[in-house]
Amino acid sequence: MAKIAIPSSSKLLTREFTFGVATSSFQIEGAADSREASIWDTFCATEGKIKDGSNGLNACEHVKLWRQDVDLISHLGVDAYRFSIAWGRVINRDGSVNKAGLQFYVDLVDALRANNIEAHVTLYHWDLPQYLDDLGGWLSRDIVDHFVRYAEVVVGALGDKVTSYATLNEPFCSAYLSYEAGIHAPGHRNRSQGRQAAHHLLLAHGSALPRMRALAPHAKHGIVLNFSPCHAASDAPEDQQAALLAHQYHNLWYLQPLLQGSYPQLVTPLAPADMPVVQPGDMDIIARPIDFLGVNYYTRTVFKAKNGWFSDVPPTQQPLTTMGWEIYPQGLVEILTDLNQTFDNLPPITISENGAAFVDTLQQGKVHDAERIAYYQGHLMAVHQCIEAGVDMQGYFAWSLLDNFEWAEGYTKRFGIVHVDYTTQQRVLKDSAKALRDFWLQRAEQL
Ligand code: NOJ
Repeated sequence: MAKIAIPSSSKLLTREFTFGVATSSFQIEGAADSREASIWDTFCATEGKIKDGSNGLNACEHVKLWRQDVDLISHLGVDAYRFSIAWGRVINRDGSVNKAGLQFYVDLVDALRANNIEAHVTLYHWDLPQYLDDLGGWLSRDIVDHFVRYAEVVVGALGDKVTSYATLNEPFCSAYLSYEAGIHAPGHRNRSQGRQAAHHLLLAHGSALPRMRALAPHAKHGIVLNFSPCHAASDAPEDQQAALLAHQYHNLWYLQPLLQGSYPQLVTPLAPADMPVVQPGDMDIIARPIDFLGVNYYTRTVFKAKNGWFSDVPPTQQPLTTMGWEIYPQGLVEILTDLNQTFDNLPPITISENGAAFVDTLQQGKVHDAERIAYYQGHLMAVHQCIEAGVDMQGYFAWSLLDNFEWAEGYTKRFGIVHVDYTTQQRVLKDSAKALRDFWLQRAEQL
């Protein structure tokens, strides 16, 4: 089994750097009968939306097996665990608090702390209660007040026991994939809706921040965005423009409002009807300071020009993961050094997700996922290079602790460092988990 190694002088090996594993509520929890339905339950129940026709009703049965999962996290030797809260497990349709649901997360956080594991909480990882979508979801400005109330309930209950709170995970997905590309719940295809949803997501984030700070003054408060360097398919000027447009539309559309209080001036401007409705004062709320930026990084993306806009092209370079994503660790260095140059107020960065799906086979109780070990080795070196290049990097979370429900791909893609048998719910450490564990334990010994 290959080992994971980092130069001994690296900041990654110091106490100032946090290592963890990550999951999200809908992808692992199951126990759908003890929470409100979410837009993902509805989406899964719609023919043709999920590749294998599956759903999140049981997933990894984490609500039942959570103590075992905490033991697993503890066994891995990490400093931290990043997970998300299911909104519909905490706030009922009638607006009342689901006490048992909230207590589940209180108990989880307490158990993590008892094991010396920091809790890093994400409030919104895509599982919007269906009852809120029925009221207009992220297209309705009323969602902002609902989100603030939800944040108050969660942060009020968990307070400073949590090390960091992220308001949103990948608003790009909740806006673009969900309202514009139609491939995530609720599955709309409308550019103006995508832009409006993005605005309300960012507004909900900024509106909740002061309340979160008041309720957990010692915790760090921030947001998680996904980034992918946008490369041009050719040297042709129109493809170069397409790549720049994609960068502005997919990456900067979320970061620039947060850090500079404005939406990017696109190289190809949007039709006025597609621009979001922005009320006076909104951009100041969105640009409230954050303590950290969570960065989810998986791959680069290649674009060509199409009908005056951009279109992504399948990668031509090997190797690929089973998501069809090119393994491209240098893209992390490229995008983060670029952002560091572009924004003089870039907050400290934590890699809140990084990982890969491969074809894993469980044979005699083992999963020999050498490709995943190589993926982690390459990307940890990229994190080290970001630090050397002057980016303030504070942590790294592997995605994911467990194989889980991979959204529109259902259970066909396995991102876990721990294998899950969905029939028996047995968890088995893959070789990658063992290699990371060796690395983390060795690091801990030297701290
Ligand atoms: C990012 C998302 O946050 C996570 O939910 C998903 O499973 C991974 N990407 C892999 O696609």
